[in-house]
Amino acid sequence: MSPFQLTRTLPEDATDAALRADVLHGLSRTPKTLPPKWFYDARGSELFEEITALPEYYPTRAEREILLARADEIAAATGARTLIELGSGSSEKTRHLLDALPGMEAYVPVDVSGSALSAAADALLAERPALSVHALIADFTRELTLPRTPGPRLVVFLGGTIGNLLPTERAAFLRAVRERLEPGDALLLGTDLVKDESVLVPAYDDRSGVTAAFNKNVLSVIDRELGADFDPAAFDHVAVWDSENEWIEMRLRANRALTVKIPELDLVVHFDAGEEMRTEVSAKFRQDGVRSELSAAGLELRHWWTDTEGRFALSLSAPPARR
Ligand code: AVJ
Repeated sequence: MSPFQLTRTLPEDATDAALRADVLHGLSRTPKTLPPKWFYDARGSELFEEITALPEYYPTRAEREILLARADEIAAATGARTLIELGSGSSEKTRHLLDALPGMEAYVPVDVSGSALSAAADALLAERPALSVHALIADFTRELTLPRTPGPRLVVFLGGTIGNLLPTERAAFLRAVRERLEPGDALLLGTDLVKDESVLVPAYDDRSGVTAAFNKNVLSVIDRELGADFDPAAFDHVAVWDSENEWIEMRLRANRALTVKIPELDLVVHFDAGEEMRTEVSAKFRQDGVRSELSAAGLELRHWWTDTEGRFALSLSAPPARR
């Protein structure tokens, strides 16, 4: 039997329907919004990889530092035999974890991109032929059906991507994860931390303009998928720190008045000069906030690790011990 299995819980056309619904709703409301998940077509994923190497963008390096420093502790604390990775993407950091977790028998990457999943699985299997890989094409913010694999299971959600969910979405997501955990299972969560605006804003508005290109790429996705005629040059990249909500907001600001046609949606959208459309929220966290959000979802914070500069945190949480 092949140790690699690919399961699709997301219908082939689900992405299309979800994109249509998101664009229709987001562009019909005031202020206009687009959800950040549509950044990641092939070009967007490439641009994101470039972002992770930027001098201003510290989260990827900070998280890698923690993973490398704490992998043995994570292994000892969990004794996990299955690794479930939500939003696995290229699975580069997974390798560090798998290297440090000798007892790992099964790997379950979950992503909306089937091509990213097969590529990552192929690369991993070449190095670890004994590993059983059960890749899941799924939108884990909507549904999460996990395959039967040996416990204990460690669910990991890295990169600070939980910060791209709004508070109510975060609560629903953590609940859904909690409901699927059995006694002995655990959640490893990566969260970027609140810090000075002078560090945060450049991380989302870099000198070389890669983040600006990444932000505008969502317009190309809508042009290609829905036949729209967005002119990317009519929009400027904006990154602001919202100190009340403690999140970075990325926006696209129209630098002139314009009208955009979206034939696939039978929609015509008007932008005033200077009008801003929100394309991403990237929340930053504090330990107390993470603890209470986990607790509200029925999870107990067991470990809290940061990089030496205190910029990013990995938390390990689990369902409370039964008594
Ligand atoms: C997907 C959470 C890793 O919010 O920092 C990077 C995406 N957006 N630059 C983040 C992103 C702008 C990123 N994560």
